[in-house]
Amino acid sequence: MQSQSKAVEYLLEANEFNWEIAPGKTVKAWGFNNQLPGPVLRAQRGETLSVKVKNNLTEPTIIHWHGIRLPAAMDGTGGVQKPIEPGEEFEYKFIVPDAGTFWYHSHYNETVQLERGMYGALIVEDKTDPVFDGEKVIMIDDMKLTADLEFTKPSWSLPRLIERHDGRQGDTLLINGKEDPTINIHAGQAERWRFINSSSARYFKLYLGGKTFRIIGTDGGLIEKPVAVTEALITPGERLDIAVGAFEEGETFNLNALSYNRSTFLRSKTETFAKVHVLKAKSSVAMIPETLRVIEPLAPQDAPVQRKVKLSVGPSLKNGLDFLVNNDTHVNDKPVKVGELQVWEINNVSLMDHPFHLHGFFFQVLEINGKAPEYKAWKDTINLTPRTKVKIAWMPDDRPGKWMYHCHIVEHHAAGMMANFDVI
Ligand code: C2O
Ligand code: CU
Repeated sequence: MQSQSKAVEYLLEANEFNWEIAPGKTVKAWGFNNQLPGPVLRAQRGETLSVKVKNNLTEPTIIHWHGIRLPAAMDGTGGVQKPIEPGEEFEYKFIVPDAGTFWYHSHYNETVQLERGMYGALIVEDKTDPVFDGEKVIMIDDMKLTADLEFTKPSWSLPRLIERHDGRQGDTLLINGKEDPTINIHAGQAERWRFINSSSARYFKLYLGGKTFRIIGTDGGLIEKPVAVTEALITPGERLDIAVGAFEEGETFNLNALSYNRSTFLRSKTETFAKVHVLKAKSSVAMIPETLRVIEPLAPQDAPVQRKVKLSVGPSLKNGLDFLVNNDTHVNDKPVKVGELQVWEINNVSLMDHPFHLHGFFFQVLEINGKAPEYKAWKDTINLTPRTKVKIAWMPDDRPGKWMYHCHIVEHHAAGMMANFDVI
């Protein structure tokens, strides 16, 4: 099978380079092919993707393919591969089995490498995708910079401890690596906007100046039916595909993140990430069907729980303040068997939000605090608000090896809120 499918080849060179986030405002970024975000990689569902990663940095790196159901050896974590040393390269090669909005990012020294820009989008298209007049990939990020536009360095200071607690949230707001960009769309047209939250810790509550938009997809591709909303939360690691338009010529509005209180020391407020300008009218060929996809339930809502995963913040045996899975840091969880349906309860007993991410497999959310979710979807990242229990179901298909789950606030992941487990 693998040898017969068409291969799409890319080269990603990890470099340090000067990146202008706004006119006259340049940072020393780390990223791929001297651009931030890295290039958008595209393939058709079922194709083989081959990506050579050349590391020109002064420290090792590893690249993770967030949301792709690939073989364990290609997952890009320290559990399955040796870091790519400076001057070395590694070829990632795998089939992309699902259409949707995915991304790649550093999975090594993430609190530094992801923050500096080591991420990009991976878009997998399918012939049966709904037809739009245009498409935009929109990567959300923020940087925490000093007045001299330097990335702040770790030190044992109070701000540093707060950063460890809350995750690193900066006030340099970026869309596709730029501060305050303008996004254009033609009047009368409908576009697919694919959002990816690549920030370390920012909770992005999307708001388009009160305009209604339709959610059409999330982590694992299309959802069942478009859902019309005026705001939608996108937490770190998550994706959200929306249909926007049609708008009227001359309209302008902001692309905002509404205030979201994730129970941290940070004060939350509404912030503007970009402006949207509606240009002169053009004819439309967009066709968004009523039913986008059928999602068969993996398990009934009342399926018995087989495994409990508790997320908490508190003292561990090893350290002082830690971010814990089942009362420990950097956990080795029990193996799961190929073909045995998994029903897990993730219980956030802490007083802060955590976006839970499972590598390599999509899950369905059966319930959130006892209630079915608003719509059916395939997910790989789900936010847990404080004192929330989420029940998920997922199927370990025939891809044995070492996998992991963790909180996608990268500082929490680094502080221990993660587990490895084997699929056997
Ligand atoms: Cu997007 Cu282990 O991460
Ligand atoms: Cu967390």
